[in-house]
Amino acid sequence: LADQSVSEDELLADPVEKVMAVGGTRHPAIALPADLFQPERVNSQGVDLDDAAVLAATATEIAIPAKLAIAAGPGPQEAVSRALAAYPAWSSTSLYTRAECLDRLADLLEENRGKLMALAVQEAKKTIPDALSEVREAIDFCRYYSARAIADLVPVELPGPTGERNVLRHEGRGVWVAIAPWNFPLAIFLGQVAAALVAGNAVVAKPAPQTPAIAAFAVSLAHQAGVPADALQLVTGAGDVGAQLTSDTRICGVVFTGSVPTAKAIARNLLLDDARPLVPLIAETGGLNAMIVDSTALSEQVVRDVIISGFQSAGQRCSALRLLLLQEDIADHTLEMLRGAMDCLNVGDPSDPATDIGPVIDQASYDKLMAYRQSVKDRIFHSVAVPAKGLFVPPTVIRLNDLDQLQNEWFGPLVHVATWKAGTLDATVQRVNAKGFGLTMGLHSRIARSSEAVEQMARVGNLYINRSMIGAVVGSQPFGGEGLSGTGPKAGGPHYLYRFCAERTTSTDT
Ligand code: SER
Repeated sequence: LADQSVSEDELLADPVEKVMAVGGTRHPAIALPADLFQPERVNSQGVDLDDAAVLAATATEIAIPAKLAIAAGPGPQEAVSRALAAYPAWSSTSLYTRAECLDRLADLLEENRGKLMALAVQEAKKTIPDALSEVREAIDFCRYYSARAIADLVPVELPGPTGERNVLRHEGRGVWVAIAPWNFPLAIFLGQVAAALVAGNAVVAKPAPQTPAIAAFAVSLAHQAGVPADALQLVTGAGDVGAQLTSDTRICGVVFTGSVPTAKAIARNLLLDDARPLVPLIAETGGLNAMIVDSTALSEQVVRDVIISGFQSAGQRCSALRLLLLQEDIADHTLEMLRGAMDCLNVGDPSDPATDIGPVIDQASYDKLMAYRQSVKDRIFHSVAVPAKGLFVPPTVIRLNDLDQLQNEWFGPLVHVATWKAGTLDATVQRVNAKGFGLTMGLHSRIARSSEAVEQMARVGNLYINRSMIGAVVGSQPFGGEGLSGTGPKAGGPHYLYRFCAERTTSTDT
């Protein structure tokens, strides 16, 4: 792809063929559609799927600017001080001006999408389609929260039964701490930041230690879009930076996406000091996400959706499929088809457009997943060949003899499979509910009564019926769970912004 003899115009003329001609190899689609892992989203700007190959070329040509990777920001306390100082002016800036900043930020993300994709590929090890989805989702968040803010955060006149005038206002609360994960280092990072800012808050944002450069670039674009420098501060670093920020008694709330233990640690921090105000925590964590398949399901569709849900993004999504529950009667047949489809997957260098599945994020994650995989090696049904060098965890299907054998969320391309007997659908859903997580669930069935029953019983934030169970679309599929999976409100949903606001009612006798 670095071959300079192919111009962008030529790529535009026939993107796929040209990209293949300059170094990509076509992956033979045997059992799976060739575009299986194409980006699933069309954002509000309607970016065409066909330009993925052009963007791929752009992305792989751009190196991470070194200065972004190492830019030293203020320490946690200094950042909170600066944000506090900036808060009054930003919160009294008109709602429309704040919303315009998000729209301009969305435009800048569009303009810089090649560079952002490059950072997502190189820093977060995203595949090209995942990197494109990542940028699209970030743009969607900005535009969606901008539009929602204008619609929802204006003052509301309420009835005055005794003749008084009642007005409900939504205002910023102060300084929010935003802590983002490495698996969506742009989309979730900016989603948190954009929501807090447009609601009239200042923000101190801490990206994951694995992905500071893309966050730094995103923050520089936000400043370029008109957000005052001190109203949005970036604090990078590992160790106890997050703990220092969340222990700071001057902050007014924390928005966090990451693990359950960290969410609980933050909740404890927020209560440690008796003198500090009560402040909200918005936490999105993990899931033990199940897909339930009955004997009426379409096998080809099930196999495709298992592959996408369990293995796309190397299973490094909180929404990813962890537990496949097949009705006994169709289990053998489905698993044999799944074996064939898995053998078509191309695991390798994420910057190669032919790659379906890249490496996992880091050595620690690799070691943990591989040790677990080794501990259950007697129950491995099938796994995919991977390159010998690199942090490639083989996409693997692991049999369970009992659902109790799966207690933890394994954040990688490992799908567990168990069977259930006809007539036990309700009990099967209840067993999944009993795990205590409540993020995503999938159902494949052509029986309307079964769909309705699962919809009634499933204690999850996002239920997907007869489709894959990842890739929630901003504004259409508000995302987030319950129980151990998070507090709500749902990201990309109509109630998200309210949680970032102070709601104030003024009643005036007329
Ligand atoms: N929102 C992502 C998805 O739906 C996960 O964080 O896959």
